[in-house]
Order: sequence, then structure tokens, then C-alpha cells
Amino acid sequence: MTNTTKYLVIACCLMVQGLYADTYYVDALIGNDGASGRDSTAAWRSLDRVNQATFQPGDTLLFRSGRIYEGQFKPQGSGSEAQPIVVANFGEGYKPRLQGNGLFLATVHLYNVAGWEVTGLDISNDGPERAAGRAGVIVEIRDFGVARSIRLRNLDIHDVNGSLVKKEGGGAGIIVKNGGRETPSWYEGLTIEHCTIQRTHRNGILINGYWSREDWHPNRSVVIRHNVLEGVPGDGIVPIGCDSALIEWNVMRDCPRLLPDGEAAAGIWPWSCDNTVIQFNEVSDHKAPWDAQGFDSDWNCRNTLIQYNYSHDNEGGFLLVCNDGSASKRSSVGNTGTVVRYNVSVNDGGRITGKHAGFSPVIHLPGPTFDTKLYNNVLIVPAHRHPDTDSTLIAFDNWHGYPDSTLFANNIFYALSPVDYEAAKATRIFYTHNSYHGEHIGRPDDPAPVLDDPLFLTLENMGHPGMDALKGLLLRGDSPAKGKGRPLVDTAVNDLFGRPVLPGQPADIGVSNNLSSNAFAPCQLWPDDSGEHINAHGGGMLYHDGVYYWYGEKRGGRQSQGVNVYSSTDLYHWRHEALAFSPVDDPQSDITWGCIMERPKVIYNEKTKQFVMWFHLELRGQGYAAARAGVAVSDSPTGPFRFVDSFRPNGNMSRDMGLFVDDDGSAYHIYASDDNYDLRIARLTDDYLKPTPQDSLLFREHREAPALFKYRGKYYLFTSACTGWRPNQARLYVADDLFGPWTSLGDPMRGPQSEITFDAQSTFVLPVVGKTEAFIFMADRWKPENLTDSRYIWLPVRFDEGTPYVQWMDAWSLEDL
Ligand code: GAL
Repeated sequence: MTNTTKYLVIACCLMVQGLYADTYYVDALIGNDGASGRDSTAAWRSLDRVNQATFQPGDTLLFRSGRIYEGQFKPQGSGSEAQPIVVANFGEGYKPRLQGNGLFLATVHLYNVAGWEVTGLDISNDGPERAAGRAGVIVEIRDFGVARSIRLRNLDIHDVNGSLVKKEGGGAGIIVKNGGRETPSWYEGLTIEHCTIQRTHRNGILINGYWSREDWHPNRSVVIRHNVLEGVPGDGIVPIGCDSALIEWNVMRDCPRLLPDGEAAAGIWPWSCDNTVIQFNEVSDHKAPWDAQGFDSDWNCRNTLIQYNYSHDNEGGFLLVCNDGSASKRSSVGNTGTVVRYNVSVNDGGRITGKHAGFSPVIHLPGPTFDTKLYNNVLIVPAHRHPDTDSTLIAFDNWHGYPDSTLFANNIFYALSPVDYEAAKATRIFYTHNSYHGEHIGRPDDPAPVLDDPLFLTLENMGHPGMDALKGLLLRGDSPAKGKGRPLVDTAVNDLFGRPVLPGQPADIGVSNNLSSNAFAPCQLWPDDSGEHINAHGGGMLYHDGVYYWYGEKRGGRQSQGVNVYSSTDLYHWRHEALAFSPVDDPQSDITWGCIMERPKVIYNEKTKQFVMWFHLELRGQGYAAARAGVAVSDSPTGPFRFVDSFRPNGNMSRDMGLFVDDDGSAYHIYASDDNYDLRIARLTDDYLKPTPQDSLLFREHREAPALFKYRGKYYLFTSACTGWRPNQARLYVADDLFGPWTSLGDPMRGPQSEITFDAQSTFVLPVVGKTEAFIFMADRWKPENLTDSRYIWLPVRFDEGTPYVQWMDAWSLEDL
């Protein structure tokens, strides 16, 4: 079969399948089980009727909103990855309520099926008495083989009164089970996202897979994200028997004190899993009588990564890393290679009630764990703790053995009441480059401790809900913890705030790697001196009296908020100077609030001693129709700039633009004209405030985003195509004279995504002062949905036998120029 016929056949199969895909409707009030179900006016009525059907790939099953459906939903038939069977709702009103009323183990039971997407339902299972194993949703395969593509989305699961006792069988909001001896069965592609789980007892979300290494069939591509768990007294999210599960952006809070004494539970933790990634989760208020930590890497787990999480007010502590040394070596591989980094713990470990009152170290490592690394975390122990609270910060312990090889590096232990340490018989514990603030009784040997206050920006919001509260943990400029960390990572990683930590570069202690790195990391967040991502998009540079000034669009989401200016002497570290140029309140002004100011560039006029800004101006309420150039001036590089005028240069439309000052001091405005079909150049008057009539077409090739530079007597011009903020292919032009003729040199970008300019658009080329023939290509990776968060791509301009090109680099420094 030729490729074309093959694709035709595949396409036909898909179409035929598509033709047979049906939509079924259910309405608990006016439906009729004798009806066809194929139309909203011929809807079925009951879950029993739905359960009799066998659904086909691509089918859709819609429950009418604002109705209550009693019983159990246990559908038959399987979809596929490409053509899942989708369950959703239709009509107005609250989400369809599926109520098991405790009559079934689960209200929704996906048993031995695959390719289902269940969305938009409200699910409860509240019986007159508690029952073991009760759940809102059970997803289960037994002797089934591989089940692909299960997705639970936007479900509100609540009021499930399972048992509060683990040994009896507990209960949960969602339970996934996979097993069977004859046909090993596991999930490939299981996503649980954007669900709320409220008052489900005992637990939140569990995955019960094969746990023994002798019978190891892990679930893969498991993703659990953006779920909110409230009123859950036991375990929050626990994967068992998974490889590379990703658990992120979940919140567990308001855990009630419901579990009977002796019950152990914690927030988010893998058991018998490899390569689990747990990140950006927030767990608070855990109150289980035993354990009750926010996070845990439990036994029979390899390479668990716990990063960027926020743990606060959990009575049992922040973290448990444990291993049962009595487990058979055939079934368990122990606990090895756990990494815990860039997490924050505030007020964890304050337990004072129950049988285990007074036992709650902030970090607890019982049993023979091996090779655990904990670095760049911040632990905050509050003042005025209850006198019965355990003061231990870090405790090693016995669980048929003791931990071996544990590293604590670059952490901040910030104790506002005294803390102490317990090493028990653990071997090879290394503390290095940690910050110890407060009273640390028996402070561990640390060859490079920081003892002075690490100087966080503010502790005002510590312990408040939401990840935003953590911004206060950026280090102040004069922090003694800056640059004092041990370089640890061997590939680039991010700090808690998404900023780069680069191999071989000095690292800060704590969760923020704020200002220490002397490197450019294209498209990473780029913090200014106050820790905020630089807000100067579509910008340009001016070098004046030994200082670089970076001017760019200040964006609030999408809104245009004027022109920001930053300063730097080394190009790596930028100080926010001011809003250099602002829209005004006067509704008659061209620059009244609501106007759009883009691609500002500033040049200095030696004769008038003025700083002159040109920018692309669009008038308020006119979209991009005005197409004008604006001019403003200031006596100081940091402004405030005064508006001079706006116009269409020599009557031409003017959008994307750049300025260029030649060696003789003459200045030029390069601008996209005639609805961006033309690129034009106009020489400016001697005061740089107006265009002269010397204004001509460069070329008519529908190019914009001009960035011009001069190298060895020739002029080079980077441009983009015109696809708005979406990236496209760059093109470089060359000319001997600014007024042309210009010749295309094609696409000068090299490396991954070079065909779309590394997902960015040119804005400026900076000649680096103090180096000969060294240029930086500057571009923006726009994020139209939130322009504030657009990223900067700075890359060296390189030369291939005199022809410029730009090579992608993940990280680089001025030495690379
Ligand atoms: C791009 C232009 C940007 C901005 C955007 C709006 O083409 O380069 O500066 O104007 O369109 O869609």
C-alpha cells in the first residue's frame, strides 16, 4: 500500500467510526427509559437504563443539569485514546447530581473499560452508616490488560462516608484499582484534574496498583493536577504502583480532626512507586493522630521528586521520608534517591493532642532510607509554640534500620522558637551551606553555615493560603544567604519562582535564586532587583555614561501601561528605575489611558542633551487602526518623559519600529508601513524629534519587528513575518547603504524551533560595550493571554565567514560572545 492509500484507508475508518458515534441524553425528571436516548427530547431517565447500553468509541453521554440521579453509574463499552467516550452535562442548572446513597461501593464505577472521559458531574455516596471501601468514583481493571486513556475532569465529589480506619478498608473520593494475576492490568494515561473532593472519608484520591516488585506492572502517564481537597481527614493523594506519576497544583486544606487514635495519614505521598514528581501542591491543616505531614516519600519508592510545594500548619510536620527495613528485599526496593527541593514549610509539626502528642519533627526520616537529598528548602518554625510541641526540627529514627547518606544543603532553617536535632544511629548525614536562624540546640556540623538572618523580603504573609504568599521569601539585596549556596545541580533547574538555577553558577540559599547568576537564560523568568519579572517588552537599549538602560512596554495582562525603564551595569542584573513614560488622564490627549504604546526605543541627542523616545502609538478605542509614531523627551534617562507629538511619518502608516544612530550621529526611524506590507526608513531631524522627507521604502515583503545593527561597514536588519504575537520565521537582510538596496540572507536562526525564531519575535540588537564586534540579539516570546509574563530571548549574534546568525543556547554568558 502506498502511503497515500494507507492514509486514505485510515481516514475512511475514522470517518466511518465517526459516523457511528452517537450522543445519548439522560434526564432524571422528564426522561423515559423506553425512549431512544438519541435526542434531548427523547432522553432516558435512569442510571439503570444507561448501564444497559454498550457505548462505542466517540460516543457522548449527556446528563441534564439541575437533576438528581440516584443509584450507580456503571457503564459498558470502551473508547480509545483518539475517540474517547465522553460523559458531560447539558442544559441549565447545577451539575447533574449522581447520588449513590451508600447503596453501592461507588456511585460511579468504571469497571474493566478504557477510553472514558467523565466530566462535569456532582457525585456523592453518603449512606446511613459508614462502610469500608466506599467511594465516589472507582476506576478499576482486573485481568483486563492495558487500559488506555481514562480522564476524570471537573467532577465535584463530596460526602462519601467510608470507614475512618485504614485496616478496615477506608474509603475515598476517588479510588483507582488495577490488578489481576492472569492478565496483568495497568493504566496508560490516567488523568484526574480540576476536581473538587469534599468531605470524603477517609481519603481523597488513591491509586491501588501492584505494589510488589515481584509482580511489578506500574501505571504510566498518571497525572493528578489542579484538584482541591477539603474536609478530608486522612490521606490526600496517594499513588501506589505507578511509574513517573505527576502530581501538581493540588490543594489539600481544612482537614478535620476525625480519625481515631492510632490512624496514620498524610497529605500527598507515593508508596511503591518510581520517579514520582510532586510539585506546586499546597497541603495545610493536616491533623491525623499519627504522621500528619504535608508530604511523604514512603517505602518501596525510587527517585521521588518533591519540589516547589507549600506545606503549612500540618500538625505532624512537613515531610516524612521513610522505609520499613523489615520488608522483604524481593518485594521492596527500599527508599532510594528521594530529592526534596525548593519547598516551603511554615508552622508544621505543632501537634499537642492525642496519644502521639509531643511527637512531630518538622522533617522525619525513619528507617533505612538511602541517598536522600534535601536542598534549597525553607522551613519556618513560628514563635510561641505550645510548650507541649515537639521542638525537633529534623529527626532520624529507627524503623528496622536507620537512614544512610542524607544531604541537607542550601536550606534555610528559620526558627523563631528553639529547635533541636536528632540523628539517632543514622549514618552519613551531611549538613552543608545551610542557614540557621534563631536558636538551634545541637546545631549540626556544617562546614559553611550562614548564621545571620537571611533577610527575606517579608514574612508578613507567611502561612497565608495560596502560593502567592511565598513571594515574601525572595531574599533581600543585602541578604547574607545570597550566593552562599553550594552549586548542586548538573542541569539547569528552576527555583520556586521559575527562575533559573544554572550548573556551575553560584546559588542562593533558600527557595529563590534571585540575583546571583551571571548568565542569560533565554525564556526563563527574569527577576529585577525586587524579584518581579522584568516588565519591558518589545524593548530597546540605550548605553549612557557607563549604564545600560532597558526601555520596554509595561504590560498589565494585556493592558498597555506605558514604558518601563530598568538599569544595569553588567546586563545580567536589572534594577527597576521607573515608569519612564506614562499614559495620561486627559481624554483629549493622544496618549490618554487606553491607548497602546509598543516597541519604545530611546536614543540620546548629543546636541540637545535630550533623551528622545520613539514608540508605536495606537489611539484609544481604535484597535490598531491609527498606526502612528509617538515621540517623547526627557532630560534624564530614567524619565519622566514628556509627550511631544504623534503622527504618521510623512503621512505613512507606522507600526512596529526601531531607531538607529549611525557613526556620524545621524538617526533613523525604521518602521512597518502600509498595513505592514512595507518596511520604510526615514532620516530624523538633527534634534531627533521629527522625520525628514528623506524617507524611503526598504522593501515590500510583509515584514515587521525590525532590529538593525551595523557590522564591518554593512547594515543588517532582522525582521519577522506578520502573524501578530504568534511566532514565525525570521529573515535577515543586508545592505551597504541604509537606503538600500537590501538583500535577503534568509533565515539566520539555528537550533531547536529556529524556524519560528525560537518561538519569539525580534525587537533589538545590542552592541555590547567594551567588546569588539559583540552583539546580542533580543526577542520577545509573547504570551498574548498574559503579556506581562512574556519572556525575553537574548542570544549572541555569531558570524559565519562574516554572515550573522543566531544559535539557540539554554544558558550563556558574555564570555561566550
Ligand atoms: C505584532 C507586533 C507587536 C504587536 C502585536 C499585536 O505583529 O510585532 O508589537 O503589535 O503584533 O498583535
